Amino acid sequence: MSGSKKKEGEARGVAKPWGGRFSGKTDPTVERFSASVHFDKALARYDIRGSIAHARMLASAKLIPAEDAESLVNGLHDIAREIEEGSFPFDPALEDIHMNIEARLRANVGAVAGRLHTGRSRNDQVAVDTAMYLRDTSLAAQLGLLELRQVLIERAGEHVDTVLPGYTHLQRAQPVRLAHHWLAYVEGLTRDAERFADLRARIRFSPLGSGALAGSTLPLDRDHTARALGFEAPTRNSMDTVASRDLLLEFLSAAAICMVNLSRISEELVLWSSSEFGFIELADAYSTGSSLMPQKKNPDVPEIVRGKSGRAIGNLVSLLTTMKGLPFTYNRDMQEDKEPLFDSAETLRDCLEVLSGSFATLEVRVGAMAEAANDPMLLATDLAEILVSEGVPFREAHEVVGKMVGRCTQEGIALDSFSAEQMAEFHPAFTASAAELLDLERSFARRDLVGGTSRDRVSDALATTARELAAEASALEAAKAEDAGGEA
Ligand code: ARG
Repeated sequence: MSGSKKKEGEARGVAKPWGGRFSGKTDPTVERFSASVHFDKALARYDIRGSIAHARMLASAKLIPAEDAESLVNGLHDIAREIEEGSFPFDPALEDIHMNIEARLRANVGAVAGRLHTGRSRNDQVAVDTAMYLRDTSLAAQLGLLELRQVLIERAGEHVDTVLPGYTHLQRAQPVRLAHHWLAYVEGLTRDAERFADLRARIRFSPLGSGALAGSTLPLDRDHTARALGFEAPTRNSMDTVASRDLLLEFLSAAAICMVNLSRISEELVLWSSSEFGFIELADAYSTGSSLMPQKKNPDVPEIVRGKSGRAIGNLVSLLTTMKGLPFTYNRDMQEDKEPLFDSAETLRDCLEVLSGSFATLEVRVGAMAEAANDPMLLATDLAEILVSEGVPFREAHEVVGKMVGRCTQEGIALDSFSAEQMAEFHPAFTASAAELLDLERSFARRDLVGGTSRDRVSDALATTARELAAEASALEAAKAEDAGGEA
């Protein structure tokens, strides 16, 4: 540091909130550099809830007088109100949300505030705040995923008999029902929801009472705070508690995977709403115009969802990278966990919401889908499987039908134009004309396997999924009520 810079720092420095050991001030650049309150204020309500539980526990363990705990709890409730009303004076000189709340408490209730941090470190405080945030935000993700799946099965229910080509390599492959296609989305989204449910079940231990890393010499009642904050029990190792961020990584990972699923779904909305496909039209409320070209209606909403999957992946990679070389236990690097976390949580919430709206309001162009599916070529596999049912080995059947397809492309004719005699020439096991054999309804009816596209199977899948979603909805309502009940 140059001499002039040094002097500048000393002159403009800010007094340190914890005094004691320090006589010098913090350089203003360092203050700005290290402050996190502008983003970790998102944890305010959890921080207050944790502090209330801690204050009550301190009183019940006779570590502070009951009337002091009372003043602390009342003061914390007032601060919660100030934050809600927007009158709380966030101060970057106090670094983070934890120090901000404690300093404000001192300003509001006086010296008794000095008792709140008894037996507590910001390291276990930030861990308990984040655990509660993760619990709520995972539940929110589950609810968002539930809503989107409910919309999807409702729309799917309207389209059991809407037929479109299913694609591989973005080439028309075989006809499917639109309901089946959208139920495919639902399956992936259900696994996404399960990932958040798994994570929520794992957030069952309370970090409070781990101290900076080695617990406390004071007889804290960790079970007391764990119960008050809706945890099953205290965490089992103080060092792990302040050192680990894997639950956070798990959230970012589940969010990234879910966003990739949403991105692929969005990509189909983009494709399907193009003139080239013309399978759907997005509602005006969920599309935008061009500032230049008056004729355009753009699928910006699914495009932005697709785009945002990049940041969800980035957030995961960012925190994985931050954590990978850190020695045990807490290191300040870990403050970098919050912005990715909040960003992924908010991104996911918004994407789920706009996709639910898009699906609820889009119009299906049934005719365009049917026309695209109306190519007998898409049933070529069926012909081969008819031969298989007559005892022909599949490889031989594949070859025979391949020759038929070759003839069609050469002569520019349709696969269903061969007469019964011509068919018998291709293979004696064929006993009817191609047109008779290549019937879409019969083809669907034959696909009567678990997970298949027959009308019955798809209707069953719809009914089963609807039942499962209803059960999930009541379980989530109960979880929501339970969390709200635990609010101090
Ligand atoms: N703002 C800090 C964070 O988010 C809180 C913990 C601070 N602990 C410390 N020892 N400096 O990680």
